Amino acid sequence: MDRRAFLGASASLAGVSSIPHLTGCNQVQASAERLVVEPSAIRLFDSQPGPTKVWTYNGQVAGPTLRMRQGEMYALDLFNKIGQPTSLHWHGLRVPFEMDGVGSITQNGISPGQSFRYAFAPPDAGLFWYHPHMNSEEQVAKGMFGLILIEERNPPPVDREVVWSLYDWGLDDDYQVPGKKAFQIWRGEEVYAKHSAITTDGQAAPDLEMRRGERVRLRIANTSGNRRYALKFEGHNPWVIAWDSNGVIPYQLGDQPLIIGTGARVDLILDGTGEVGQVFEILDLFNRDFEPVPPWESPEQTAARAAERVTRIRYLDTPAVRPLSELPPPTAPIANPIPVPDLSAAELIEIELGQSMIPVREIPKIGPMAAVLAEEHGVSMDTEVGLWTMNGEVLLEDLETYNCIDPVPAFECKIGRTYKVRFKNATHVDHPMHLHGHTFQMISRNGLAYDRVFMRDTFTLFADETVEIAFVADNIGDWMIHCHRGMHQHGGMMSTFRVT
Ligand code: C2O
Ligand code: CU
Repeated sequence: MDRRAFLGASASLAGVSSIPHLTGCNQVQASAERLVVEPSAIRLFDSQPGPTKVWTYNGQVAGPTLRMRQGEMYALDLFNKIGQPTSLHWHGLRVPFEMDGVGSITQNGISPGQSFRYAFAPPDAGLFWYHPHMNSEEQVAKGMFGLILIEERNPPPVDREVVWSLYDWGLDDDYQVPGKKAFQIWRGEEVYAKHSAITTDGQAAPDLEMRRGERVRLRIANTSGNRRYALKFEGHNPWVIAWDSNGVIPYQLGDQPLIIGTGARVDLILDGTGEVGQVFEILDLFNRDFEPVPPWESPEQTAARAAERVTRIRYLDTPAVRPLSELPPPTAPIANPIPVPDLSAAELIEIELGQSMIPVREIPKIGPMAAVLAEEHGVSMDTEVGLWTMNGEVLLEDLETYNCIDPVPAFECKIGRTYKVRFKNATHVDHPMHLHGHTFQMISRNGLAYDRVFMRDTFTLFADETVEIAFVADNIGDWMIHCHRGMHQHGGMMSTFRVT
């Protein structure tokens, strides 16, 4: 194989950045990128009579892909032109506390008409994404998300890269994003989508066109508000080379579906093993095979659950790029500079994920909002709602300001020490859990130690599972720890941990 050709191909994908090289964190940036969040309208389905109202970054859904350089200062001004406060969080990036973009925790919410400058030097390379961290159940659902690419200094050799943000549009009868009210979320009322569209960049997914013998790096971020995916690549056996932008010893999927929790990212090597003219499906099996059956679902509905197409792989009518025998086993990206947990000295923290039914009047800390809620929805203060909990506690946002109400850290860490966190899922559904400011190592699942190193910032616990992770607390601040399914996050399953 011509290794130089391989390298050349991937080098041509290098990010173009106009951000000047700055040397100090406290230096004032001469230039910053601009991101304006404002209302717009787009069409997703040919059949829709009128456009879907969305909130866009710079007029686009997904927002523009931001390109940064590992270890170099980056600055961006966010301008808020939607009629409610917002903030910008850099999912997976280990940024300083003040730049983490969690409204009311790391900064004040950016009010309508206001702007905020974010500036930091991202320590790690890879695929990340950005989204608001206030009322995100609604804001992400309306289209507020985008990718971040930080080029690796020496990327694994491939012919070409394809980057997807898997996103699920759930639209109502009128092809609009259903406004989910907090109360509905807390009651667990699904606002059923009539029109669902899986997209790979905010718009309908085009076929993935491939050539025999070609090596593609397929980089996928799950930027959906609530949806999880279990991908099946018909006729192919992709290699996983990274999770959440951190290289793993490459392994092939075989018969296993690729489960991507909300917020997670995965890097695959997809080799063109098909023949000219062949077409293969890329399917999502999550709903069919992994979504538990809720009590209100009828047996007919359950039986009708089907695999859903994400897109297709279609082989072009072109000569093979190279014989398949010339494709070596792939390599992983080089490791990011993440501190290695010292398990011999780790302090154990236990977190139980739960659910509890309580009357509206007893929703913790919401005070007079309880009466307003009950009134608005025409129910009594005794109506029960289901909240999602961490160690029995909930963290909720105020319904007007979207500020977190009285956050109390779930645990405290001393800078530089290793913490092992044992999560126990005492609920009947899966939770993609995410920690801010830190990247952690997967230690064990249901008592079985991991056989290789997985460094993650988001991981999924299925019903009744117990998972241990470990990390070095090396970033001072109050960091979010939460489920990344919007319905759960905004139904209480959020907390913070404090590093001092
Ligand atoms: Cu993707 Cu708390 O965030
Ligand atoms: Cu959850």
